[in-house]
Order: sequence, then structure tokens, then C-alpha cells
Amino acid sequence: MQENDKESIIQQLLVRIQQHFPDDGSGHDLGHIRRVFTLAGYLAKQEKADGFLVALAALLHDVGDYKLHPAGIENHREAILYFCRGLDLNESTIEQVIHIVEHVSFKGAAVADVPLGIEGQCVRDADRLDAIGAVGVVRAFAYGALHQRPMYDESFLPQRHQDFEAYKTSKGPTIHHFFEKLLLIHQRLETKTAKALAVSRHQFLLQFIEQFQIEIENKDFTQLKD
Ligand code: ADP
Ligand code: NI
Repeated sequence: MQENDKESIIQQLLVRIQQHFPDDGSGHDLGHIRRVFTLAGYLAKQEKADGFLVALAALLHDVGDYKLHPAGIENHREAILYFCRGLDLNESTIEQVIHIVEHVSFKGAAVADVPLGIEGQCVRDADRLDAIGAVGVVRAFAYGALHQRPMYDESFLPQRHQDFEAYKTSKGPTIHHFFEKLLLIHQRLETKTAKALAVSRHQFLLQFIEQFQIEIENKDFTQLKD
């Protein structure tokens, strides 16, 4: 396929995605998809992966996600086929995209990631980079607010989820999510490029948690001398 044809398919898909996803700051909005698309494209270039496959999977990575379904149902295959209808894509490409998208999501601290080829790794790493750093902090609290989660509750401890069901149905406060997922991400990235990008984002999470604890526990003023 010619580069022009690939670019045209990506643009058509982007228009469909823009029409479908709101830009509402909910954490799984158009802004997130755009960032993952750009970041995954950068990773693909650095890692010499197939940029077309990475672009398609990045644009479609949240399509059919359980977190966006009112009843929490996951259906990537059906949703991806719907989004790709009429585009000049062969079956094998669509199957590769579906395979990547079905294995992007984090499913719990003790649940291992399914091995993916370099293209899948670029998309998964890009998605995870957008869940850490300053953007990651904002997204976590946006998600928490949308799901009526308290931001903090010290009456129980964060969990190490053993399976997807336990992770998915957890109703913990948002700050627990940092210990249940966000602070673990830097060790679960696979590409060299993403690992390097994660260093400052991870450092920012640690800094945020430290300051959050200080303020929540009133340490910044109770320890001052009158
Ligand atoms: P994944 O598919 O790996 O979960 P997403 O792109 O769907 O990745 O992003 C998940 C986003 O939702 C992250 O930014 C994460 O912080 C947020 N999120 C998911 N579960 C929770 C939760 N229980 N509390 C707070 N934020 C959450
Ligand atoms: Ni995502």
C-alpha cells in the first residue's frame, strides 16, 4: 500500500474517532487518544516498528473498552470492525489491530501482560506513559470523580489485585490507584524509548504522593513552631 493511501486511511479514522469521543477531560477523551497516537508514533519511529499498524491500533486502542461502557462490557472486536467499516484495510491488518487492542489494558498488579510484538509494545507503552506523570495524576482524579470515588481514605490499604475481575470491580479511593497501578507502570514498560521517557514521569508521581501525604496529614503546618 502506498504511503499516501495509508495517510488517507489514518485521517479518515481520525475523523471517525473525533466524532465519537468527547473532548471532556474525563481521562478517556479525545485528548488521551491524540496523545497516545502521537506518543506511539514517536515510539514506533525510534523502535523501527511498522508505523501504520501502530497508528491504527493507537487510534482504536480505547474503542470497545469496558471502562467506557455503561455496563462495563468489553467488546473491542465488534467496535473496531464498526469503526473500520468501508476503509481500505485487509482482514489481516484488522486482525492484528484487534489483537493489539485486546491486550493493551492493565489488568491488575499481579496479572502478567500478554507478550506482544514491537507494534503492540509501542501502543501499550504509549497508553501507559499517558497514565503517569502530571497528565496521569489529572487523569486518575478525573476518572475517580467520574466514578464517585473518594480521593483519599486511609481506613484500608491498597490491594495487589490477583485477577482482572478484582481490579475492575475495585471501589477504592483514587490515591490507592497510584499504588495499585500507576507507580508500577515504569517497571512494566517494554520499549527502551518508553522506559527513558518514564523516568521523569515516574519521579513526578513520587513527588506528588509525597506532597499529597504531607498536606493530607497536616504535616506542613502542625510541625511549625508558633
Ligand atoms: P488501561 O486500559 O491500561 O486501564 P487507559 O488508557 O484505559 O489504560 O487508562 C486508564 C486511565 O484510567 C488511567 O489514566 C487511570 O489512572 C484511570 N483509572 C483506571 N482505573 C482507575 C481507578 N480505579 N482510579 C482512578 N483512576 C483510574
Ligand atoms: Ni488508553
